[in-house]
Amino acid sequence: MSLPEKIKLVEVGPRDGLQNESRSVPTAIKLEFIKCLSQTGLQVIETTSFVSKKKIPQLADHKELFQALDKNNNITYSALVPNMQGFITAKQVGVTEIAIFTAASESFTGHNINCSIAQSLQNYGSVISAAKAAHIRVRGYISCSLGCPYEGHIAPQKVVDIAEKLWALGCDEICLGDTIGIATANEAQLLVDAVKKKIPREHIALHFHDTYGQALANIYATLQQGITIFDCSVSGLGGCPYAPGATGNVASEDVVYMLNGLGIETGIDLDKLIVAGQYIDKFLQRNTGSKVTRALR
Ligand code: HMG
Ligand code: MG
Repeated sequence: MSLPEKIKLVEVGPRDGLQNESRSVPTAIKLEFIKCLSQTGLQVIETTSFVSKKKIPQLADHKELFQALDKNNNITYSALVPNMQGFITAKQVGVTEIAIFTAASESFTGHNINCSIAQSLQNYGSVISAAKAAHIRVRGYISCSLGCPYEGHIAPQKVVDIAEKLWALGCDEICLGDTIGIATANEAQLLVDAVKKKIPREHIALHFHDTYGQALANIYATLQQGITIFDCSVSGLGGCPYAPGATGNVASEDVVYMLNGLGIETGIDLDKLIVAGQYIDKFLQRNTGSKVTRALR
Protein backbone atom coordinates (compact mmCIF):
# COMPACT_ATOMS: atom_id res chain seq x y z
CA MET A 1 0.00 0.00 0.00
CA SER A 2 1.28 3.51 -0.80
CA LEU A 3 1.72 6.07 1.97
CA PRO A 4 -1.32 8.22 2.88
CA GLU A 5 -1.39 11.76 1.47
CA LYS A 6 -2.64 13.33 4.65
CA ILE A 7 -2.61 12.37 8.30
CA LYS A 8 -4.09 13.65 11.56
CA LEU A 9 -1.77 14.19 14.51
CA VAL A 10 -3.25 14.23 18.00
CA GLU A 11 -1.15 16.36 20.35
CA VAL A 12 -1.20 14.76 23.80
CA GLY A 13 1.44 16.93 25.50
CA PRO A 14 -0.86 18.90 27.82
CA ARG A 15 -2.40 15.64 29.11
CA ASP A 16 0.03 12.72 28.73
CA GLY A 17 2.97 15.09 29.07
CA LEU A 18 1.97 17.09 32.10
CA GLN A 19 0.38 14.15 33.99
CA ASN A 20 3.86 12.72 34.42
CA GLU A 21 5.78 15.82 35.50
CA SER A 22 6.81 15.93 39.15
CA ARG A 23 6.81 19.72 38.98
CA SER A 24 3.36 21.19 39.35
CA VAL A 25 2.40 23.39 36.41
CA PRO A 26 0.11 26.35 37.21
CA THR A 27 -3.12 26.56 35.21
CA ALA A 28 -2.00 29.85 33.62
CA ILE A 29 1.12 28.18 32.19
CA LYS A 30 -0.94 25.26 30.86
CA LEU A 31 -3.33 27.73 29.21
CA GLU A 32 -0.47 29.58 27.52
CA PHE A 33 1.05 26.24 26.43
CA ILE A 34 -2.25 25.15 24.84
CA LYS A 35 -2.53 28.59 23.23
CA CYS A 36 0.90 28.13 21.63
CA LEU A 37 -0.13 24.67 20.41
CA SER A 38 -3.38 26.11 19.03
CA GLN A 39 -1.36 28.37 16.73
CA THR A 40 0.51 25.51 15.04
CA GLY A 41 -2.20 24.07 12.78
CA LEU A 42 -2.91 21.04 14.99
CA GLN A 43 -6.47 19.72 14.61
CA VAL A 44 -6.73 17.89 17.94
CA ILE A 45 -5.19 18.77 21.31
CA GLU A 46 -5.75 16.48 24.29
CA THR A 47 -5.96 19.02 27.06
CA THR A 48 -6.43 17.29 30.42
CA SER A 49 -8.10 14.38 32.27
CA PHE A 50 -11.26 14.43 34.35
CA VAL A 51 -9.78 11.87 36.74
CA SER A 52 -9.30 11.58 40.48
CA LYS A 53 -6.99 14.27 41.84
CA LYS A 54 -5.58 11.70 44.25
CA LYS A 55 -4.47 9.56 41.31
CA ILE A 56 -3.22 12.38 39.06
CA PRO A 57 -2.70 15.54 41.12
CA GLN A 58 -0.96 17.22 38.16
CA LEU A 59 -4.30 17.51 36.35
CA ALA A 60 -6.50 18.37 39.35
CA ASP A 61 -7.30 21.74 37.73
CA HIS A 62 -9.12 20.03 34.81
CA LYS A 63 -12.37 21.92 35.29
CA GLU A 64 -10.89 25.43 35.66
CA LEU A 65 -8.45 24.77 32.83
CA PHE A 66 -11.10 23.64 30.36
CA GLN A 67 -13.43 26.50 31.23
CA ALA A 68 -10.68 29.07 30.77
CA LEU A 69 -9.38 27.71 27.44
CA ASP A 70 -9.32 30.23 24.62
CA LYS A 71 -10.76 27.82 22.04
CA ASN A 72 -10.18 27.95 18.31
CA ASN A 73 -13.23 26.65 16.40
CA ASN A 74 -11.05 24.64 14.02
CA ILE A 75 -9.49 22.61 16.83
CA THR A 76 -10.94 19.77 18.88
CA TYR A 77 -9.92 20.10 22.53
CA SER A 78 -10.35 16.59 23.91
CA ALA A 79 -10.01 15.20 27.42
CA LEU A 80 -9.72 11.84 29.21
CA VAL A 81 -12.67 10.53 31.21
CA PRO A 82 -12.39 7.41 33.45
CA ASN A 83 -16.01 7.06 34.60
CA MET A 84 -19.46 8.68 34.69
CA GLN A 85 -18.36 11.21 37.32
CA GLY A 86 -15.63 12.45 34.96
CA PHE A 87 -18.03 12.45 32.03
CA ILE A 88 -20.59 14.59 33.85
CA THR A 89 -17.97 17.21 34.72
CA ALA A 90 -16.49 17.14 31.22
CA LYS A 91 -19.91 17.62 29.65
CA GLN A 92 -20.75 20.46 32.06
CA VAL A 93 -17.70 22.43 30.92
CA GLY A 94 -18.35 21.80 27.21
CA VAL A 95 -15.93 19.03 26.22
CA THR A 96 -16.84 17.85 22.69
CA GLU A 97 -14.58 14.82 22.47
CA ILE A 98 -13.74 12.45 25.31
CA ALA A 99 -11.24 9.63 25.53
CA ILE A 100 -12.05 6.64 27.69
CA PHE A 101 -9.18 4.33 28.59
CA THR A 102 -8.78 0.68 29.35
CA ALA A 103 -5.90 -1.72 28.67
CA ALA A 104 -5.00 -5.12 27.28
CA SER A 105 -3.40 -6.05 30.61
CA GLU A 106 -5.35 -6.85 33.78
CA SER A 107 -2.47 -5.74 36.03
CA PHE A 108 -2.11 -2.37 34.35
CA THR A 109 -5.89 -1.79 34.38
CA GLY A 110 -5.96 -2.56 38.10
CA HIS A 111 -3.11 -0.14 38.87
CA ASN A 112 -4.39 2.57 36.56
CA ILE A 113 -8.16 2.60 37.03
CA ASN A 114 -8.68 0.19 39.93
CA CYS A 115 -10.91 -2.35 38.19
CA SER A 116 -10.73 -5.33 35.83
CA ILE A 117 -10.82 -4.96 32.04
CA ALA A 118 -14.35 -6.42 31.98
CA GLN A 119 -15.55 -3.97 34.65
CA SER A 120 -13.98 -1.08 32.78
CA LEU A 121 -15.84 -2.05 29.60
CA GLN A 122 -19.07 -2.34 31.52
CA ASN A 123 -18.59 1.08 33.13
CA TYR A 124 -17.64 2.68 29.83
CA GLY A 125 -20.79 1.30 28.17
CA SER A 126 -22.93 3.83 30.01
CA VAL A 127 -20.40 6.63 29.55
CA ILE A 128 -20.32 6.02 25.78
CA SER A 129 -24.13 5.91 25.56
CA ALA A 130 -24.37 9.20 27.47
CA ALA A 131 -21.71 10.75 25.24
CA LYS A 132 -23.49 9.61 22.05
CA ALA A 133 -26.76 11.05 23.32
CA ALA A 134 -24.98 14.39 23.86
CA HIS A 135 -23.24 14.23 20.42
CA ILE A 136 -19.85 13.98 22.08
CA ARG A 137 -17.23 12.05 20.10
CA VAL A 138 -15.53 9.13 21.86
CA ARG A 139 -12.01 7.79 21.45
CA GLY A 140 -11.21 4.49 23.17
CA TYR A 141 -7.63 3.90 24.30
CA ILE A 142 -6.23 0.41 24.77
CA SER A 143 -3.05 0.77 26.80
CA CYS A 144 -0.37 -1.92 26.87
CA SER A 145 -1.38 -3.00 23.36
CA LEU A 146 2.24 -3.86 22.61
CA GLY A 147 3.57 -4.81 26.04
CA CYS A 148 2.88 -4.30 29.73
CA PRO A 149 5.16 -3.09 32.53
CA TYR A 150 3.78 -5.82 34.82
CA GLU A 151 2.90 -8.71 32.45
CA GLY A 152 5.39 -8.33 29.60
CA HIS A 153 4.23 -9.68 26.22
CA ILE A 154 0.61 -9.08 25.22
CA ALA A 155 -0.97 -11.30 22.56
CA PRO A 156 -2.41 -9.26 19.65
CA GLN A 157 -5.64 -11.29 19.87
CA LYS A 158 -6.26 -9.86 23.34
CA VAL A 159 -6.07 -6.35 21.90
CA VAL A 160 -8.34 -7.31 19.00
CA ASP A 161 -10.98 -8.65 21.42
CA ILE A 162 -11.01 -5.41 23.43
CA ALA A 163 -10.96 -3.24 20.30
CA GLU A 164 -14.02 -5.10 18.98
CA LYS A 165 -15.84 -4.58 22.28
CA LEU A 166 -15.04 -0.85 22.39
CA TRP A 167 -16.12 -0.51 18.77
CA ALA A 168 -19.38 -2.35 19.47
CA LEU A 169 -19.99 -0.03 22.45
CA GLY A 170 -19.84 2.92 20.04
CA CYS A 171 -16.30 4.34 20.14
CA ASP A 172 -15.57 6.48 17.08
CA GLU A 173 -11.85 5.85 17.17
CA ILE A 174 -9.72 3.10 18.72
CA CYS A 175 -6.29 4.16 19.89
CA LEU A 176 -3.69 1.43 20.43
CA GLY A 177 -1.13 2.51 23.01
CA ASP A 178 2.44 1.31 23.27
CA THR A 179 2.44 2.59 26.83
CA ILE A 180 5.99 1.49 27.63
CA GLY A 181 7.46 2.25 24.20
CA ILE A 182 8.82 -1.21 23.68
CA ALA A 183 7.48 -2.38 20.30
CA THR A 184 9.51 -2.80 17.14
CA ALA A 185 8.16 -2.16 13.63
CA ASN A 186 7.27 -5.78 12.85
CA GLU A 187 5.30 -6.10 16.10
CA ALA A 188 3.44 -2.86 15.42
CA GLN A 189 2.57 -4.09 11.92
CA LEU A 190 1.38 -7.48 13.18
CA LEU A 191 -0.92 -5.75 15.66
CA VAL A 192 -2.31 -3.37 13.05
CA ASP A 193 -2.87 -6.28 10.64
CA ALA A 194 -4.88 -8.08 13.30
CA VAL A 195 -6.92 -5.07 14.46
CA LYS A 196 -7.75 -3.79 10.99
CA LYS A 197 -9.50 -7.07 10.20
CA LYS A 198 -12.15 -5.95 12.70
CA ILE A 199 -11.99 -2.14 12.84
CA PRO A 200 -11.90 0.06 9.70
CA ARG A 201 -8.35 1.36 9.44
CA GLU A 202 -9.44 5.04 9.19
CA HIS A 203 -10.73 4.64 12.76
CA ILE A 204 -7.51 3.21 14.20
CA ALA A 205 -5.03 5.56 15.90
CA LEU A 206 -1.60 4.69 17.24
CA HIS A 207 0.05 6.10 20.35
CA PHE A 208 3.76 5.35 20.65
CA HIS A 209 5.86 6.17 23.67
CA ASP A 210 9.52 6.28 22.70
CA THR A 211 11.32 4.51 25.54
CA TYR A 212 13.37 2.29 23.22
CA GLY A 213 13.68 4.85 20.40
CA GLN A 214 11.40 2.85 18.09
CA ALA A 215 8.49 5.24 17.69
CA LEU A 216 9.37 6.91 14.36
CA ALA A 217 10.18 3.52 12.83
CA ASN A 218 6.85 2.22 14.10
CA ILE A 219 4.98 5.20 12.66
CA TYR A 220 6.68 4.75 9.29
CA ALA A 221 5.90 1.02 9.32
CA THR A 222 2.22 1.53 10.14
CA LEU A 223 1.79 4.44 7.70
CA GLN A 224 2.50 1.79 5.08
CA GLN A 225 -0.54 -0.11 6.36
CA GLY A 226 -2.76 2.90 5.78
CA ILE A 227 -2.98 4.24 9.35
CA THR A 228 -3.75 7.97 9.27
CA ILE A 229 -4.05 9.01 12.94
CA PHE A 230 -1.01 9.22 15.22
CA ASP A 231 -0.48 10.66 18.68
CA CYS A 232 2.57 12.66 19.62
CA SER A 233 3.71 15.02 22.31
CA VAL A 234 5.62 18.22 21.82
CA SER A 235 9.24 17.97 22.96
CA GLY A 236 8.65 14.28 23.75
CA LEU A 237 6.86 14.98 27.02
CA GLY A 238 4.84 12.16 28.50
CA GLY A 239 4.57 8.98 30.46
CA CYS A 240 2.15 7.36 32.84
CA PRO A 241 2.70 7.25 36.61
CA TYR A 242 1.26 3.71 36.54
CA ALA A 243 3.68 2.49 33.85
CA PRO A 244 7.03 2.38 35.66
CA GLY A 245 10.05 2.89 33.41
CA ALA A 246 8.13 4.32 30.46
CA THR A 247 9.39 7.57 28.99
CA GLY A 248 7.73 10.24 26.87
CA ASN A 249 5.68 10.03 23.72
CA VAL A 250 7.31 10.42 20.36
CA ALA A 251 8.15 14.13 19.92
CA SER A 252 5.62 15.95 17.72
CA GLU A 253 8.37 18.01 16.09
CA ASP A 254 10.21 14.84 14.99
CA VAL A 255 7.02 13.31 13.59
CA VAL A 256 6.17 16.47 11.64
CA TYR A 257 9.75 16.67 10.30
CA MET A 258 9.53 13.05 9.10
CA LEU A 259 6.09 13.53 7.53
CA ASN A 260 7.21 16.75 5.80
CA GLY A 261 10.14 14.81 4.35
CA LEU A 262 7.79 12.10 3.13
CA GLY A 263 5.52 14.71 1.49
CA ILE A 264 2.60 13.81 3.77
CA GLU A 265 0.33 16.71 4.67
CA THR A 266 -0.29 17.49 8.36
CA GLY A 267 -1.27 21.16 8.18
CA ILE A 268 1.20 21.83 11.00
CA ASP A 269 3.86 24.55 11.05
CA LEU A 270 7.06 22.95 12.38
CA ASP A 271 8.59 26.27 13.52
CA LYS A 272 5.53 27.10 15.60
CA LEU A 273 5.55 23.61 17.10
CA ILE A 274 9.17 24.11 18.14
CA VAL A 275 8.17 27.39 19.81
CA ALA A 276 5.41 25.60 21.77
CA GLY A 277 7.87 22.92 22.89
CA GLN A 278 10.43 25.53 23.94
CA TYR A 279 7.78 27.40 25.93
CA ILE A 280 6.90 24.42 28.12
CA ASP A 281 10.48 23.16 28.38
CA LYS A 282 11.58 26.55 29.69
CA PHE A 283 8.99 26.43 32.42
CA LEU A 284 9.82 22.81 33.30
CA GLN A 285 13.56 23.56 33.12
CA ARG A 286 14.11 20.49 30.98
CA ASN A 287 16.07 19.83 27.80
CA THR A 288 14.00 19.18 24.73
CA GLY A 289 13.15 15.59 23.92
CA SER A 290 12.94 16.50 20.22
CA LYS A 291 16.03 15.70 18.14
CA VAL A 292 14.80 18.08 15.43
CA THR A 293 14.58 20.99 17.89
CA ARG A 294 18.08 20.20 19.16
CA ALA A 295 19.44 20.17 15.61
CA LEU A 296 17.70 23.36 14.49
CA ARG A 297 18.15 25.67 17.44
P1 HMG B 1 -10.91 4.59 42.59
O1 HMG B 1 -9.53 4.63 43.13
O2 HMG B 1 -11.47 3.26 42.22
O3 HMG B 1 -11.82 5.19 43.67
O4 HMG B 1 -10.95 5.56 41.35
P2 HMG B 1 -13.28 5.85 43.67
O5 HMG B 1 -14.01 5.66 42.40
O6 HMG B 1 -13.91 5.34 44.89
O7 HMG B 1 -12.90 7.39 43.87
C1 HMG B 1 -11.87 7.78 44.74
C2 HMG B 1 -11.88 9.29 44.85
O8 HMG B 1 -11.70 9.85 43.56
C3 HMG B 1 -13.21 9.84 45.36
O9 HMG B 1 -12.90 11.04 46.07
C4 HMG B 1 -13.96 10.20 44.11
O10 HMG B 1 -14.90 11.22 44.28
C5 HMG B 1 -12.82 10.67 43.22
P3 HMG B 1 -12.90 11.06 47.68
O11 HMG B 1 -14.30 10.73 48.07
O12 HMG B 1 -11.92 10.02 48.11
O13 HMG B 1 -12.47 12.47 47.98
N1 HMG B 1 -13.13 10.49 41.80
C6 HMG B 1 -13.02 11.47 40.90
N2 HMG B 1 -12.62 12.75 41.00
C7 HMG B 1 -12.64 13.49 39.86
N3 HMG B 1 -13.01 12.98 38.67
C8 HMG B 1 -13.40 11.71 38.55
C9 HMG B 1 -13.42 10.90 39.70
N4 HMG B 1 -13.76 9.62 39.90
C10 HMG B 1 -13.58 9.38 41.20
N5 HMG B 1 -13.74 11.24 37.35
C11 HMG B 1 -10.61 6.14 39.06
C12 HMG B 1 -11.15 5.12 40.02
C13 HMG B 1 -10.75 5.56 37.67
C14 HMG B 1 -11.40 7.41 39.19
C15 HMG B 1 -9.11 6.43 39.39
O14 HMG B 1 -8.40 5.24 39.47
C16 HMG B 1 -8.47 7.36 38.38
O15 HMG B 1 -8.77 8.53 38.34
N6 HMG B 1 -7.54 6.83 37.52
C17 HMG B 1 -6.97 7.63 36.45
C18 HMG B 1 -5.55 7.21 36.22
C19 HMG B 1 -4.96 8.00 35.08
O16 HMG B 1 -5.41 9.09 34.74
N7 HMG B 1 -3.88 7.46 34.45
C20 HMG B 1 -3.19 8.10 33.39
C21 HMG B 1 -3.96 8.14 32.12
S1 HMG B 1 -3.88 6.63 31.19
C22 HMG B 1 -2.43 6.79 30.25
O17 HMG B 1 -1.64 7.66 30.49
C23 HMG B 1 -2.23 5.86 29.09
C24 HMG B 1 -2.51 6.55 27.74
O18 HMG B 1 -1.65 7.65 27.54
C25 HMG B 1 -2.32 5.56 26.59
C26 HMG B 1 -0.99 4.81 26.62
O19 HMG B 1 0.06 5.44 26.81
O20 HMG B 1 -1.06 3.59 26.42
C27 HMG B 1 -3.96 7.05 27.66
MG1 MG C 1 0.40 7.54 26.90
